[in-house]
Amino acid sequence: MERAINVELGTRSYRVRIGAGALGSLGAAVAGLGGATAAAVVSDDRVAALYARRAIDSLAASGVRAGLITFPAGEASKTLATASGVLDALFAQRPAVDRSAVVVALGGGVTGDLAGFVAAVALRGLRFFQCPTTLLADVDSSVGGKTGVDHPAGKNLIGAFHQPSGVLIDVAALPTLPPAELRGGLAECVKHGVIRDEALLDFIERNAGAILACDADVMTELVARNVAIKAAVVSADERESGQRAHLNFGHTIGHAIETLAGYGSVTHGQAVSLGMVAAMHLAVRRGLLGQCEADRVERLLGALGLPLRRAGLDFAALLPIMRHDKKARAGQVRMVLPSRLGAVDVHDDVTTDELSAAAGYLAG
Ligand SMILES: NC(=O)c1ccc[n+]([C@@H]2O[C@H](COP(=O)([O-])OP(=O)(O)OC[C@H]3O[C@@H](n4cnc5c(N)ncnc54)[C@H](O)[C@@H]3O)[C@@H](O)[C@H]2O)c1
Ligand SMILES: [Zn+2]
Repeated sequence: MERAINVELGTRSYRVRIGAGALGSLGAAVAGLGGATAAAVVSDDRVAALYARRAIDSLAASGVRAGLITFPAGEASKTLATASGVLDALFAQRPAVDRSAVVVALGGGVTGDLAGFVAAVALRGLRFFQCPTTLLADVDSSVGGKTGVDHPAGKNLIGAFHQPSGVLIDVAALPTLPPAELRGGLAECVKHGVIRDEALLDFIERNAGAILACDADVMTELVARNVAIKAAVVSADERESGQRAHLNFGHTIGHAIETLAGYGSVTHGQAVSLGMVAAMHLAVRRGLLGQCEADRVERLLGALGLPLRRAGLDFAALLPIMRHDKKARAGQVRMVLPSRLGAVDVHDDVTTDELSAAAGYLAG
């Protein structure tokens, strides 16, 4: 089973192809971009050990000369220093890279963001191809063109919009993913269901077992449905002036929990799960969402192994973090709240009392 989805962005439109074994057609896909004789495959050391050979062999078989550039796995590598090292390796490639070269990101969101950023700045912009290998990268970061690195002052503070020329998603890479990483991606899938597509929630509910077991056909369908949602949002609002903000559902409180806990002790997916639970509680309190709808999503998150409560959550410490969020306006916390399952709105009038109640709900 293979699925394909177009991301419509005028002259910068591109195709996302999804299937088991898709990595084997990387060479044909890159050669099909036209004029590409050289590629640099950027990958973290863990993913490279598992999948780089397959990517490079496929490129070579299509007549694309490919070098491999690796960096240590993990968010700590998403820095200007690593980007600089990748650029050094890129410019050291022989024969020298020119404007026709393609940067291939093979890995999770860290690799995609880093390699995309390198592609955006190298020679003022090289073509860029995404081969995501985590569920989070499959359904979220590989589509949309946000690239960048972290700064000590905050995550993703340095970056550029640079759309890929194509995305190839091999769901056969998912079974080697650590279970916690899989669950992290599932939190974003539930998010997509709540913001746009109640039928996606049905699908995840019905197939939870097969999803957790990484069944290839079910994962192809799951990823395709999620990419379709992300693609539609990005096509409508590439630069996040409007509806792209809906993708932040669960992320206002989620990011603050992640920051407060210190990166690593709560995963992004766990934090987003908690953030969605809190946002839904707030929506129920406002009379926007029914209690049974919020309960249904909580049950689903629980079935996927995601957390619903966080004992001891300290609201006083959380509030200033939310107020200083990149997406807050003049200290006013901005939240995305569901009006039913499948539809959300941005709310700029959330009060401190409401936030406190939502945090209290999480603290249990
Ligand atoms: N650009 C965007 O729009 C966007 C959206 C969401 C998140 N992000 C970014 O994505 C990053 C998180 O991405 P992530 O969760 O994919 O993390 P990641 O890239 O660090 O991958 C997680 C871990 O899984 C390993 N791994 C990856 N694929 C594997 C596989 N198939 N088998 C075994 N191990 C594998 C990696 O080596 C790593 O250790 C964050 O930096 C975040 O800011 C970007
Ligand atoms: Zn997220």
